[in-house]
Amino acid sequence: MRKPLVAGNWKMHGSRASVTALVEGLLDLGATPCQTLICPSFVFLDQVQRQLAGSDIALGAQNLDWHDKGAYTGEVSAEMLVEFGCSHVLVGHSERRSLFAETDVQVGLKVEKCLSSGLTPVICIGESLAERQADETFTVVQRQLDAVIRQVGVTALRHGIIAYEPVWAIGTGESATPEQAETVHVHIRQYLAKQDENISQNIQLLYGGSVNGENAADLFAQENIDGALVGGASLKVDDFLRICRAAV
Ligand code: 13P
Repeated sequence: MRKPLVAGNWKMHGSRASVTALVEGLLDLGATPCQTLICPSFVFLDQVQRQLAGSDIALGAQNLDWHDKGAYTGEVSAEMLVEFGCSHVLVGHSERRSLFAETDVQVGLKVEKCLSSGLTPVICIGESLAERQADETFTVVQRQLDAVIRQVGVTALRHGIIAYEPVWAIGTGESATPEQAETVHVHIRQYLAKQDENISQNIQLLYGGSVNGENAADLFAQENIDGALVGGASLKVDDFLRICRAAV
């Protein structure tokens, strides 16, 4: 049985004060009802790690570099993230791919680094609007998955999570419909099943893209949607908790 997971991607938002208040808000309400992950900006990891001590909420980063260490100005290593209490890392978010030219090969290297460091990669895949309109959704997600599988092998995905985030639904207020999302999730599972039935059945598949308190329950009602990767709505305690509650 796959457990539901709700993850918050805080992107490049927050200040010391607002991040402290947001985490306090999540903690004040007691245990979050489902497996929960928050991914603040790197600079807030230290303070959030301290605030989360003893809680069930997991801490994740939004990116990492695949090298061990060295002259990579501006980058952050897996070892650093482990030291700062991270258990998860978002890898290959569409904003990294489109705005920072991250390639499929680099995403594979990052996933490999996560796995060899004991970090769970949340592997983000998804098509652009133009790709959807050209009927290329399945081809794109397969290509993105193939790059990871080529690097680490399919069985290594037992330590990974996949987030399907159609680019056209991110930050637009226009979520994929539950049926649209489920169709792609089913396709991802079928594609994985051809390589490893066990991985296909057990891997958590999150949906991301304009998830909010209103639409979460309908998305989670789909058999192959195991949770959500939430952007904007994860910055508000009430909205995020509403999504968490909808997941159980
Ligand atoms: P929104 O929920 O703001 O659409 O962002 C989704 C996302 O990019 C999560 O990684």
